[in-house]
Amino acid sequence: MPGHALLLVGSVLLVVLAPLSCADAAVGTGKSKISAVFMFGDSLVDPGNNNNRLTEARANFPPYGQDFPGGKATGRFSNGRVPGDMLASKLGVKEFLPPYIGDDLELSELLTGVAFASGGSGYDPLTSIPAIATSSTGQLELFLEYKEKLISLVGEEEASRVISRGIYFTAMGANDIANNYFSIPLRRHQYDLPSYVKFLISSAVNFTIKLNDIGAKRIGFFGIPPIGCCPSQRKHGSRECDALQNQAAELFNSGIEKEIERLNVERSVNDSRFVYLDIYYNLLDLVQQHDFYGFKEVTEGCCGSTVLNAAVFIQYHPPCPNACDYIFWDSFHCTEKAYNIVIDEIFQQNMHYLM
Ligand SMILES: *[C@@H]1O[C@H](CO)[C@@H](O)[C@H](O)[C@H]1NC(C)=O
Ligand SMILES: *[C@@H]1O[C@H](CO)[C@@H](O)[C@H](O)[C@H]1NC(C)=O
Repeated sequence: MPGHALLLVGSVLLVVLAPLSCADAAVGTGKSKISAVFMFGDSLVDPGNNNNRLTEARANFPPYGQDFPGGKATGRFSNGRVPGDMLASKLGVKEFLPPYIGDDLELSELLTGVAFASGGSGYDPLTSIPAIATSSTGQLELFLEYKEKLISLVGEEEASRVISRGIYFTAMGANDIANNYFSIPLRRHQYDLPSYVKFLISSAVNFTIKLNDIGAKRIGFFGIPPIGCCPSQRKHGSRECDALQNQAAELFNSGIEKEIERLNVERSVNDSRFVYLDIYYNLLDLVQQHDFYGFKEVTEGCCGSTVLNAAVFIQYHPPCPNACDYIFWDSFHCTEKAYNIVIDEIFQQNMHYLM
């Protein structure tokens, strides 16, 4: 049956080629004075901290991870690696940034950084009740716990070297706007959108100050992505991006960018550096110029496009056969290919300020 043989050859080839055509060989920068990378945030950057939590915000089952080494569903909300991995790798620290919670990490992992990020989290304490996620405050508590653990393992001096030479990232806020403000009426009764965004900025500033006070000296602050363009947030009929949610993200971003610049000036006496990292326009650029970047599908997710096409709701559902054509993996999160391009852009823009 020649037809059958051909098909088999075709599919073998596809399996061999797919990871290559998707991957953007992320070579580390080699020598680096950076000791460790730490990541705070939500499901955009959570590598599996929610795996043992009874929450809908989990991704430790197929089809998640299909393009991760070994096809392993680690809890990363993508088909492959997530931004923390790419940052650690490009900074020359290590290939994968592991979750802090869960399996006992080896000392070498603890010394080179971990992620405290938890899917479903946000800067608003109401966004992440314990049943869903580790809140932003909870992530700071975990960082304190980590610090104590490190001191007990390697001593005060070495621990303080690791912590002060680390690079820290925070990426939250999308859930506050998309899942909290626009889906649950509670906050909308208390705040109009501009005052809610003000509240979020204040909460994000307080988070960043606490992080700095605990010992993080170099902090990269990711803004909120263009959430209105996620498949789940787009308009039902026209599939246009939701303009109001994008405006909310922009409002937060322009406000927090100024605050981050202010912190950078005020706190530089302590040898601290703060930089705002733009995920908004870099991702919007992918959406708007998708042909240029080699994406064929922009409005739909590879695993579906409704609010129920992400996290536990797509457990064992088959994905699309051609994830490389998609910017979005599920209805809320990007494909590895899209994350890679965005992180590359951010690196070229202002990452050097932290290095
Ligand atoms: C941030 O901290 C300031 C000063 O402690 C406080 O007044 C403000 O309420 C805090 N903001 C939020 C949103 O908790
Ligand atoms: C500098 O660090 C010290 C000790 O951590 C702290 O007490 C002080 O408030 C910091 N100063 C500024 C301007 O952040």
